[in-house]
Amino acid sequence: MTHEPLLTVSDFSVVYDVEPPVEAVRNVSLTVRRGEILGLAGESGCGKTTLAYGVQRLLQPPAVITSGSAVFHDESGTDVDLNTLDAHQMRAFRWAKASMVFQGAMNALNPVLNVGRQLADVFSTHRPQMTRKQRTEECAGLLDLVGVGRDRLRSYPHELSGGMRQRVMIAMALALKPQLMIMDEPTTALDVLVQREILEQISDLRSQLGFSVVFITHDLPLLLEISDRIAVMREGRIVELDTAENIYHRPQHEYTRRLLGSFPSLTGARGGFVRGSDGTSEQGTGTTGGTGAVTAGEAAR
Ligand SMILES: Nc1ncnc2c1ncn2[C@@H]1O[C@H](COP(=O)(O)OP(=O)(O)OP(=O)(O)O)[C@@H](O)[C@H]1O
Ligand SMILES: [Mg+2]
Repeated sequence: MTHEPLLTVSDFSVVYDVEPPVEAVRNVSLTVRRGEILGLAGESGCGKTTLAYGVQRLLQPPAVITSGSAVFHDESGTDVDLNTLDAHQMRAFRWAKASMVFQGAMNALNPVLNVGRQLADVFSTHRPQMTRKQRTEECAGLLDLVGVGRDRLRSYPHELSGGMRQRVMIAMALALKPQLMIMDEPTTALDVLVQREILEQISDLRSQLGFSVVFITHDLPLLLEISDRIAVMREGRIVELDTAENIYHRPQHEYTRRLLGSFPSLTGARGGFVRGSDGTSEQGTGTTGGTGAVTAGEAAR
């Protein structure tokens, strides 16, 4: 990981124009560095999804972006102000440069098409010059990459477990080798073991392929394990952004302390195992105590 910026968000604000208006994101500024996993933590309703959607220009009315900008520093050396892209360019950008895995994404697969076909569609749309054979080979490779396996190319979503479907969504997000993946609660609907396996895979892929990840969840113990840096969000604002190590050992903001304190696994005797004092995370500890908080409604969103 370098300190080179990949995405710079400045003074970003989003209001839901309802009665009374909801200031969901308030003057957020942050930088995602090239190659890092940046965790975005904060309790339900603090604005995490709204921020991610806002940056990706996915918000619908009544949401209004009232201030700010998001600039993507492409590896080619060009800076892209996402404000200036039209709908078509933005769609291409979302696949090729900064993809997104949505909250509850595993339910977003089309039930009547096999997963190979759904992956292939990404290539037919965005890489029309590819031959059918090349497409199939790419799709098979992607399924191998995320641990589903190429023998599942012809499987329909209902034939796959939740964890496998979620991996297919991650494969789709990886298809065009984006420089950034924004993952909004990608694993909270899954059981803890599957969740851990997928996260380890994301972490490996990140090292292998060199992309950055913005990982959104209210599961702070999980973020402490996988993130390089963590941004703590509260009521629409980023109240603290620091290395995972500092957030855990030296939280500066009162709210970060309270958030850490709300996870018994972090404050009890086992807490020391979450992240070793040298900053490395250790395996196999019961650190995902926060995940039980997710509701069925949330998983379906
Ligand atoms: N369409 C909408 N109309 C009005 N208010 C909305 C709308 N969508 C979201 N909000 C409000 O905006 C705020 C931020 O919501 P958001 O979904 O971004 O939170 P979140 O941090 O992603 O929460 P969670 O962890 O539950 O996913 C909340 O107060 C929510 O009620
Ligand atoms: Mg959300």
